[in-house]
Amino acid sequence: MKQTLAALSLAAVTAASTFASGLAQAAEPIVIKFSHVVAENTPKGRMANHFKELVAERLGDRVVVEVYPNSQLFGDDKVLEAMQLGDVQLAAPALSKFSRYTDQLALFDLPFLFEDLDAVDRFQQSEAGQALLGSMEKRGLIGLGYLHNGMKQLSASQPLRVPDDAKGLKFRIMASEVLEAQFHALDAAPLKKPFSEVFTLLQTKAIDGQENTWSNIYSKKFFEVQPYITESNHGLLDYMVVSSTEFWNGLPEDVRTELKAALEESLAYGNQIAREKAEEDRKKIAESGRSEIIVLSPEQRAQWVQVMKPVWKEFEEEIGAELIDAAYAANQP
Ligand code: LMR
Repeated sequence: MKQTLAALSLAAVTAASTFASGLAQAAEPIVIKFSHVVAENTPKGRMANHFKELVAERLGDRVVVEVYPNSQLFGDDKVLEAMQLGDVQLAAPALSKFSRYTDQLALFDLPFLFEDLDAVDRFQQSEAGQALLGSMEKRGLIGLGYLHNGMKQLSASQPLRVPDDAKGLKFRIMASEVLEAQFHALDAAPLKKPFSEVFTLLQTKAIDGQENTWSNIYSKKFFEVQPYITESNHGLLDYMVVSSTEFWNGLPEDVRTELKAALEESLAYGNQIAREKAEEDRKKIAESGRSEIIVLSPEQRAQWVQVMKPVWKEFEEEIGAELIDAAYAANQP
């Protein structure tokens, strides 16, 4: 009898563990690959890592976020196609990099559109700004939120004080027609190149300059190979976190709700970092002595505005005059 009981309980234990392992197999965690091109200690890098931690805390083994920084997995030229193929689930390309999917996001590239990040926040949180998150759904991409990096500065191999100083120089740009037009307005030569190539292009003097934020100029060491940086604040470099509609809408509802909440918290965190980094990294560059920071007088700045702003007209039809007006109006608190 004793033996029979022992055998029975052994059988029960075996059955229970087989059941448990079957369950574990059935509930393989969902893997979210988050691919980006910048360094980890940047607003986007810190946001992505924060999101990964929050998801680990809150969704335990139901969801695993893997973050791939520094173009390790995909550059921004490939990541959106890869997303549609299901090879990556989250990315946050600069708003300049969606032109193949929508005309409207080109809005954010218009030079001298926003005076500061507060204005950008007001517009992005407005009805018109939020509607843009859905502007690529027909193309299979869903916008989940905005993230700041900050205002762009111009770096070059020679001092840029007035627009004429940029004449004939080669500048790397992101893949955006507005940015192309902006440099054409300066009679400069824009070249669309991936972010991962910028340092080498500058170092080998294949190009003369580029435009980027303090955080990117510092973290990718552009300031070490660019003796001059003009504090122009002429444009915005912000991001949209995107996923494929198929992946995102296919998630179990409770998981999607938790992920959305974790993402929103991470974006708020990243936006705070963006503001801090712009100041911190500018300071570190100034202290390095490797690059001279040129501060424009109001008269000099007015000249840049005068030369670059006509670009708005060129893109008014494509972007929509109403949308441009709504964004510009956000400069008024
Ligand atoms: C660039 O290509 O200059 C930026 O979009 C990189 C980034 O993601 O900040």
